Amino acid sequence: MYEIKITEVAQRKEKPSDESKLGFGKLFSDHMLLINYHKDRGWFDPRVVPYGNLSLDPACSVLHYGQEIFEGAKCYRTDKGFNLFRIRDNFERMNRSAARMGMAQIPVELCLESLMALLSVDKEWTPHRTGTSLYIRPTMIATDAALGVSAAENYLFYILLSPSGAYYAGGLAPVAIYVEDSLVRAVRGGVGFAKTGGNYAASILAGAKAKHEGYAQVLWLDGVEQRYIEEVGSMNMMFVYEDRKIVTPMLNGSILPGITRDSVLTLAGHMGYEVEEKRIAIEDVMADAASGKLTEAFGTGTAAVVSPVNKIAYKDQAVHVGDGSIGRITQQLYDTLTGIQYGKLDDPFGWITSF
Ligand code: COI
Repeated sequence: MYEIKITEVAQRKEKPSDESKLGFGKLFSDHMLLINYHKDRGWFDPRVVPYGNLSLDPACSVLHYGQEIFEGAKCYRTDKGFNLFRIRDNFERMNRSAARMGMAQIPVELCLESLMALLSVDKEWTPHRTGTSLYIRPTMIATDAALGVSAAENYLFYILLSPSGAYYAGGLAPVAIYVEDSLVRAVRGGVGFAKTGGNYAASILAGAKAKHEGYAQVLWLDGVEQRYIEEVGSMNMMFVYEDRKIVTPMLNGSILPGITRDSVLTLAGHMGYEVEEKRIAIEDVMADAASGKLTEAFGTGTAAVVSPVNKIAYKDQAVHVGDGSIGRITQQLYDTLTGIQYGKLDDPFGWITSF
């Protein structure tokens, strides 16, 4: 048991009255959790404090060299209380990201107890409306005030809570995506598998380009041959073949090992679908969509859960996937996963922490 000090805010904020207008990651709860680290002292002073600005030295290493990692998880309101989904997996992944970024490891139990302390004062920020949740954003930043490029000796770990609705304004409406064939998001041996801000920064220009061309998301290709599919937007990509087989890019070091990705693959196998993780060449996807062998396509991530795709544009060719509406298997996977998350369905995999 860690001792986590709680200082409650004097005046609580008004909670949003219209939960249909929450959007994603725009509002924050009354408190946040902070823990400091120094290499000689380890993690110290875990505390829940009123939500507010951080005070950082302008030379702070995260601001210059991007030594930063984060996670995304959700707390769901259920009929009986609250559910967290695979939360331990998030903190374990955070430590794998920390290792790659040369940052400090943080005990998973400390993360879990700290989160529970924060939720003990702010769980009522979890919205009620179907499809909404309290998005949890654990973050770690390097805080040395020094301009040399090396692993920092000081870190700050913090957790924010944000009552959120759908990540994409269109919700589950299928979107058109555009295959980026010059810019790349990550390369093998780099930091693609780590949940670090730089990967998302690297995606912003192509995302803007896609929007300008009328597409919702970018489909990323590998950084070496620019031929094999990696991710879609900030999500993992799944393809359904002949209404019975789920195929996704295999993890290769430049793809984020998504917790929703893993959950969807596990559920699909459990439902009796064939599941395959492999290298997927873009020209095969285009040909299989054109021939009708590719029956559904969708992205997966914590924020959006699933995001169906109905059109893929690559160079000067565009193909349609399915009949334009969400695919049957995509919908089935979405309903089952969210059913478990909201406590409406049994949890045969031990994914849920209820409180
Ligand atoms: C997710 O889909 O959960 C993500 O990681 C997206 C996030 C950067 C908002």
